[in-house]
Amino acid sequence: MFDEIPKPLGSLLCLLLLLIPLSSSTLPNRPCASSGAANAFPFCNSSLPLLTRAESLVSLLTLDEKIKQLSNTADAVPRLGLPAYEWWSEALHGLCTNGPGVLFNGSIRAATVFPQVILTAASFNRTLWREVARAIAEEARAMHNVGQAGLTFWAPNINIFRDPRWGRGQETPGEDPLTVSTFAVEYVKGFQHEDGNGGLMLSACCKHFTAYDLEKWNGSARYTFNAKVTEQDMEDTFQPPFKSCITEGHASCLMCAHNQVNGIPSCAREDLLNQARNDWGFEGYITSDCDAVAIIYENQTYSSSPEESIADVLKAGMDINCGTYLLRHTKSAIEKGKIEEKDINRALLNLFTVQLRLGRFDAEQNNQWFNHLGHTDVCTENHRNLALEATRQGLVLLKNENEFLPLKGQKVESIAVIGPAGNDTDILGGDYTGIPCRPVSILEGIQDYIENTIYVPGCQNVSCNSTFGFDLATDIARNSDYVIVVAGLSLTEETEDLDRVSLLLPGKQMELVNTISGVTKRPIVLLLIGGGPIDVSFAKENKDIGGIIWIGYPGEVGGQVLAEVLFGDYNPDGRLPITWYPESFTNVPMSDMNMRPDPSRSYPGRTYRFYTGETVYKFGYGLSYSNFSYKFLSAPDKLILSLPSIELFHISKIPDYVRTDGLDHVYIKDISSCQDLKFSVRVSVFNHGGMNGAHTVLLFVRHRSNLTDYPVKQLIGFERVHTNYGETTEVEIFVDPCKHISVANKQGKRRLLLGAHVLMLEDLEHEFYIQA
Ligand SMILES: *[C@@H]1O[C@H](CO)[C@@H](O)[C@H](O)[C@H]1NC(C)=O
Ligand SMILES: *[C@@H]1O[C@H](CO)[C@@H](O)[C@H](O)[C@H]1NC(C)=O
Ligand SMILES: *[C@@H]1O[C@H](CO)[C@@H](O)[C@H](O)[C@H]1NC(C)=O
Ligand SMILES: *[C@@H]1O[C@H](CO)[C@@H](O)[C@H](O)[C@H]1NC(C)=O
Ligand SMILES: *[C@@H]1O[C@H](CO)[C@@H](O)[C@H](O)[C@H]1NC(C)=O
Ligand SMILES: *[C@@H]1O[C@H](CO)[C@@H](O)[C@H](O)[C@H]1NC(C)=O
Ligand SMILES: *[C@@H]1O[C@H](CO)[C@@H](O)[C@H](O)[C@H]1NC(C)=O
Ligand SMILES: *[C@@H]1O[C@H](CO)[C@@H](O)[C@H](O)[C@H]1NC(C)=O
Ligand SMILES: *[C@@H]1O[C@H](CO)[C@@H](O)[C@H](O)[C@H]1NC(C)=O
Ligand SMILES: *[C@@H]1O[C@H](CO)[C@@H](O)[C@H](O)[C@H]1NC(C)=O
Repeated sequence: MFDEIPKPLGSLLCLLLLLIPLSSSTLPNRPCASSGAANAFPFCNSSLPLLTRAESLVSLLTLDEKIKQLSNTADAVPRLGLPAYEWWSEALHGLCTNGPGVLFNGSIRAATVFPQVILTAASFNRTLWREVARAIAEEARAMHNVGQAGLTFWAPNINIFRDPRWGRGQETPGEDPLTVSTFAVEYVKGFQHEDGNGGLMLSACCKHFTAYDLEKWNGSARYTFNAKVTEQDMEDTFQPPFKSCITEGHASCLMCAHNQVNGIPSCAREDLLNQARNDWGFEGYITSDCDAVAIIYENQTYSSSPEESIADVLKAGMDINCGTYLLRHTKSAIEKGKIEEKDINRALLNLFTVQLRLGRFDAEQNNQWFNHLGHTDVCTENHRNLALEATRQGLVLLKNENEFLPLKGQKVESIAVIGPAGNDTDILGGDYTGIPCRPVSILEGIQDYIENTIYVPGCQNVSCNSTFGFDLATDIARNSDYVIVVAGLSLTEETEDLDRVSLLLPGKQMELVNTISGVTKRPIVLLLIGGGPIDVSFAKENKDIGGIIWIGYPGEVGGQVLAEVLFGDYNPDGRLPITWYPESFTNVPMSDMNMRPDPSRSYPGRTYRFYTGETVYKFGYGLSYSNFSYKFLSAPDKLILSLPSIELFHISKIPDYVRTDGLDHVYIKDISSCQDLKFSVRVSVFNHGGMNGAHTVLLFVRHRSNLTDYPVKQLIGFERVHTNYGETTEVEIFVDPCKHISVANKQGKRRLLLGAHVLMLEDLEHEFYIQA
């Protein structure tokens, strides 16, 4: 269909070259900017449908020109005024240079570093999530406008944080499918700023599709790892975030991962890529992760030649390759008959459609507010305040022995800050961090409250493999009123291409904490930095440790927020979005993708939904300076299914499940037909404590019987509310049983169990029945 240029177009083309000189100021960036362009090129005619415009553009390109569009660094086509384009820009929690598209070398020299995603997630505040994404997008668009960034960004990372060792878990919203799905939707909506007609301010990308969450472990590496995933786990753990990101967030990009999924490279999983396009309505482009095509032949030896790899991915539905592999081998793939030009045209249509939705070729429309963003819209006071909010709302208070914190109203003459990260601003961002506007270290934050604050590192760095420096730290600690020990992780322990091997504090950090806490006048405060869970069992029990705070990677305002919390100017309210496992969990092979436990091989299962072993802190754990209590104001006692829409199975006929309570468990066959089951739960939250504060209500459900294969419990809704001291706030949580209470069977089909279910708010329970 696009193999040859239709005749009228061909002649128009010649005409155009005569009529419109390529003025260097406008045309190289916006081929359709001049008034005559729409006459000459149908692709410049904005009255035409996007697809028609994209088809027209494709039809103008030669094969060689087309091939040069298939890399993240796409070539210019000067004869059409088509500029070169770098597809790869990154903006996970602020603009950063992990991709070549973002540059800090022009009029913009820094951008707001928001906290790493795992901390922002801990706020469980949808509004905040969207506002942060919107702010990042404003800075991104400003950078684009001044020529320092692209329009297509490869965030968010919405893989489930399945194993506590995962080096990139920090980039994700945690382990719970509902939380991750909700975050994905808010991020993409806030970031893309889609108008009613498919127009985009920027493009966001749901990555890494799919079942990607291992960097390097015991000989397995992400480039060659074959994730063996059951249909059941795929349906109710790994895919929900991607489905939401597309169906509700309308993401315009999907990135296929390095790893294989059940023996087939992710970028060659035609069935899964088709599912996204056909079943979920994905309209956008699919990029490979970087070099994810090259490795199919070179490292996975899945294909037997480079050309076959090209065929595998283009026929599966991938559109663009991060890397140069397609540039190098697509021509010969055609020559060898592995693919046809139409396979390339298909990909180009997706790529150009996204470009057109971004308005990249058209004249800049000045009535669009985002075209006016520039260097004064980066590092703004508003964005800084939002970064402060994100860090405040995410920080988690893990221990507060005898209400040791806050240090308010107590006479604090001197404070010692001990730990290698205490005076380090580089550490605050975690991975995918750019250049911060005005970072505040932990030390500086505390110094703003207490002038007499002394810093000693104790260890040379986070690896802390020497006790050299302990003596000085001990002396300082002994003579200070209060002591904060800054411990935890850094990118030398967990990052892209680097998983942890232990969940304990690195090196001799534990020894440092215990040594210091043994000599101080009062209990110490232990501050934990890092994305992954840390086994700090030793510190939970130790009475010399009065408080434990987890601050994730708090972004550039970390020091200020920590001080606000220490001194009671902010009442902490974050909740852990991941289970904190004990060190013994490292016996579980990281490469085992099963979510569900298997007692026959002592496999404990993963995440709060399936793991029933010991924890250091549970998913959703987090203290406040106040105490909150709940009441169910209203919740259903019975949900009745209308019979015609369902097919019933008696549990006795389904050997997967073990009947334990005498009820007949029945499944609904077609879960899309249970719309009429939607309900809401109203809850009151009373604040007993001495401070006003926010609180996240986490509503879980479990089936009353303990069924194998079924989650122990499942988060079905959350709502963050502010409640003043001595007052009550009411919240309403909406539940869609099809979406939230259903669980996949072994074949990966959604099922809803009938019978007794229990709604859970901490220790408070409410039983209800689903009946047919
Ligand atoms: C643009 O497309 C519309 C709709 O097909 C058509 O009516 C119009 O003439 C075209 N404009 C130009 C300048 O070709
Ligand atoms: C910034 O760096 C890019 C890539 O190295 C270069 O092309 C560009 O000219 C530089 N811009 C400035 C203002 O130095
Ligand atoms: C790591 O790999 C080795 C060799 O393949 C294997 O013997 C060992 O059991 C693995 N370790 C774990 C914890 O699975
Ligand atoms: C993949 O194989 C190529 C060619 O043998 C090699 O150069 C490269 O280092 C390998 N990459 C990985 C990630 O193993
Ligand atoms: C903290 O770090 C800064 C910047 O590296 C350095 O100038 C300062 O001396 C350090 N402060 C202390 C108390 O070590
Ligand atoms: C940490 O410090 C030690 C010296 O105590 C040094 O050998 C090591 O290279 C440092 N590690 C990192 C990651 O900087
Ligand atoms: C400390 O760790 C670094 C690497 O992180 C290593 O190079 C160094 O040899 C270690 N030093 C000791 C004393 O173990
Ligand atoms: C919160 O409750 C605990 C246990 O019931 C109690 O010891 C503590 O004093 C309460 N704290 C506040 C701030 O009300
Ligand atoms: C289900 O398991 C919970 C703990 O996991 C236990 O307290 C309860 O008694 C069990 N219920 C049934 C019906 O076996
Ligand atoms: C949620 O975040 C927004 C944006 O920061 C904030 O205005 C709002 O107060 C937060 N909600 C609660 C209950 O904390």
